[in-house]
Amino acid sequence: MPFGIVVMVSGFGSNLQALIDFAEANPQTLCIRAVISNQNTSYALERAKKANIPIQVITALPNQRREDFDEKLTATLNTYQPDLIVLAGFMRILSAQFTTHWQDRLINIHPSLLPKYPGLNTHQRVIDAGESTHGVSVHYVNAQVDGGPIVAQAQLQLDPKDTAESLAKRIQLLEHQLLPAVVNAIATHKIHYNHKQASIQWLAKPLLRPLNLDELKL
Ligand code: GRF
Repeated sequence: MPFGIVVMVSGFGSNLQALIDFAEANPQTLCIRAVISNQNTSYALERAKKANIPIQVITALPNQRREDFDEKLTATLNTYQPDLIVLAGFMRILSAQFTTHWQDRLINIHPSLLPKYPGLNTHQRVIDAGESTHGVSVHYVNAQVDGGPIVAQAQLQLDPKDTAESLAKRIQLLEHQLLPAVVNAIATHKIHYNHKQASIQWLAKPLLRPLNLDELKL
């Protein structure tokens, strides 16, 4: 049976599309069991429908406690029994209760070279700080926003002419390669995460620094 994932989204879903394309090309390896969105208008839902993937929309009620929303999320996730949950542009902070419950099978993609620049507006912050490199990270999720052990990163060099918009485009091209590559490595058991020790194993050896795209493609 292929490795089953659930992808959680809020918006455009270009990273979801990269995963759909990978799963369609590798049906023995990967199956996207469902897409969950916390926004009923997200274009990602159209992408899922087009690919015949079940969708679930869970929107927050006014004044709803974060824990209550997350319990609903967990109940929905349980119906799909995911081997892995992929946060791909899921723009909502998750409770510690949720991240602890799913910690051994919950990853996120973030547009910066973590631990630098967690949070929003990373491209402009990178330009304002005069950085010469920028990039994208995939990490296991813990209760800290954009925290958790980093699995892999892809980097680019800043061009003096870069704007936040040009960087967003260049970073997304990297994201669309890195995310399916990491999911594939987890699905094929090249990456194993021991959450009790917060340690990632790569090819049965402890991972001492984030993997890069070349290593993942081997
Ligand atoms: C990506 O840049 C991802 O790193 C961040 O949110 C964005 C989602 O883009 N977490 P998309 O919805 O996948 O196009």
